[in-house]
Amino acid sequence: MSKIYIEGGVPLKGRIRVKGAKNSCLPIMAASLLVPGEITLCEIPDLEDVRTMTSLLRLLGVKVRHDRRNEKVELDSRHLITCTAPYGPVRRMRASFLVAGPLLTRMGRARISHPGGCAIGVRPIDLHLKGLVAMGAEFTMGDGFIDIVAPRLTGAHIYLDYPSVGATENILMAAVLASGTTRIDNAAAEPEVVDLANFLSSLGARIEGAGSSLITVEGVSSLKGGLAKPYTVIPDRIEAGTFMAAAAMTGGDLIIENVIPGHLTAVSAKLTEAGAEVETADSRTIRVRPRGRPRAVEIKTLPYPGFPTDLQPQFMALLTLAQGTSVIRETVFEKRFTQVEELARMGARIRIEGRSAIITGRQFLQGAAVRAADLRGGASLVLAGLAARGITEIRGLHHIRRGYSRLVGRLRSVGARIFISP
Ligand code: UD1
Repeated sequence: MSKIYIEGGVPLKGRIRVKGAKNSCLPIMAASLLVPGEITLCEIPDLEDVRTMTSLLRLLGVKVRHDRRNEKVELDSRHLITCTAPYGPVRRMRASFLVAGPLLTRMGRARISHPGGCAIGVRPIDLHLKGLVAMGAEFTMGDGFIDIVAPRLTGAHIYLDYPSVGATENILMAAVLASGTTRIDNAAAEPEVVDLANFLSSLGARIEGAGSSLITVEGVSSLKGGLAKPYTVIPDRIEAGTFMAAAAMTGGDLIIENVIPGHLTAVSAKLTEAGAEVETADSRTIRVRPRGRPRAVEIKTLPYPGFPTDLQPQFMALLTLAQGTSVIRETVFEKRFTQVEELARMGARIRIEGRSAIITGRQFLQGAAVRAADLRGGASLVLAGLAARGITEIRGLHHIRRGYSRLVGRLRSVGARIFISP
């Protein structure tokens, strides 16, 4: 079982380039099922979740070629062979459920292994199903699968009780080829939803309002891909935010390239409040330089444009070193504090009260042996290790690899003393 070793205390300095957004790649790859033709996607990083989506699509009959070196994926969905998404990929990655909308559209049926719970909370799929049912689908559950049938999908007015990212994306994908108009009210406004809408529009879909709480889709009769029409996914704002926190925690000076600063407004605001200098060097670059020890701040995670839950664990690591007492309130997922016990092993003082974490900052953390229990929790341990005194040893690497590509090598290129044991 490989481990990460970090000798902490080195300020990260230099330039680091952000990769394509994991949470754009996954729905966009799933959306390729809608097109009985070929699609080319650019800036698709070599991540474990991308590999899982690739193997799921292959099981469904899609021909997938991932040029990992050039981060390019070619998909050919002309001949689908099944509408069943089995236990393996769905258990590994809940985003596998994103194939439901496209499969229903293409095959009139989707049989998806029940996603069950996961490390950061219950994460139901009721809103996905509610939307699909409003469009004419029927579903049954049993034998560990959800069977959804819809010989024909019809546009509908759907109100989401919560602006779920996945539900918005699944309904959006089901709506583009449905007959008539679909309105998604209280839709998620995340940049990755906009990216999916832009991708679908580039194929001929008619979508308005993506990025707002009301998305309107006018169903069209077909979508058209083509290898000559590559689509480039947006940069990963969560990876960018992780590097921003790393710069602030290690007293470094990082120039983070390939970012869309507008996607990081809440993150930049919190870092500034914590005392770091965040400078938007140009439309694609952010520079982060801390001014002394971070200051305590209050953070509440919210749907976009609020502070992202996917950066909560990394900012918790930062705040363990802040001057004063910080409070983080997690409102999106109910159990997203898997990193707390591990951070405590490094000397962090964190108290959990319901959905809030109260963090009393310390002057320093001490390296220790810790274990990542989920993706972003794992990233927070890497950040803690980079800033801590002594050696940190992190197990559970497979979680981190789900969402960060070549993280160790890239952090080393900006000065970190970080290694992977075989
Ligand atoms: C996506 C992201 C994930 C991020 C999350 C919130 C992808 C692949 N993953 O996950 O990284 O942390 O958005 O920004 O894009 N909910 C329901 N019923 C549903 C669906 C969701 O109650 O049918 C609840 C969930 O339990 C959770 C909240 O809504 O409490 C947010 O979930 P959602 O926005 O759907 O997250 P995902 O799409 O799973």
